[in-house]
Amino acid sequence: KARVAVVISGEGSNMGALLYASRLPSSPYEVVLVASNNPDAPGLALAEAEGVATWARSHKGLAREAFDDALHEALAAARPDVIALAGYMRVLTPGFVRAWEGRLLNIHPSLLPAYPGLDTHARALEAGDRHAGCTVHLVTEEVDSGEILGQLPVAIQPGDTADMLAQRVRLAEHQLYPATLSAYVSRHQDAGWIEGQVDALAAALPEVL
Ligand code: GAR
Repeated sequence: KARVAVVISGEGSNMGALLYASRLPSSPYEVVLVASNNPDAPGLALAEAEGVATWARSHKGLAREAFDDALHEALAAARPDVIALAGYMRVLTPGFVRAWEGRLLNIHPSLLPAYPGLDTHARALEAGDRHAGCTVHLVTEEVDSGEILGQLPVAIQPGDTADMLAQRVRLAEHQLYPATLSAYVSRHQDAGWIEGQVDALAAALPEVL
């Protein structure tokens, strides 16, 4: 199975969705680490209760590069094939993004390219949109603009507030993220891209010969 590290800042409901989906027998990935810049993130307690390794350090008082270096080291030690940002509310440094290029996914609460950044639901309501939604995309140095891997629209209902809409978009996110991550790692596993897979092949080679 592909090794996935999840990075969170808060509630961690998307992390929970990724974790429980990984425990279905058919899952092509397992969650090997949950990391956070917020030691009080409720998602960390959930991960611990479920027996998943966690790492937490507050970013407060640290320069951006220093924090991202610490995060990078903690992640690298867990040897992830893929890192899934799930409600991680900080912009990553270019060096960090380059180090994990092609292996770094994010979920964003809008139908990108509409509404990158914050306050997506209020902006969709204000614009009178008929649909909000969510997007899973590859992370690149420019915020919320990497290749789109999957999207789900969510109908806006009369009388919706930003909070009501956020709650329904989250339901959609919980379906979209595990499915899109599974498809992504399966695609790359087939291509022999996942390191674990390559190692396993290398180890098996002498027996084959
Ligand atoms: C999710 O809706 C996610 O899309 C959003 O934060 C929420 C986290 O919820 N992410 C962003 O806005 C990233 N800029 P969760 O902690 O319950 O998964």
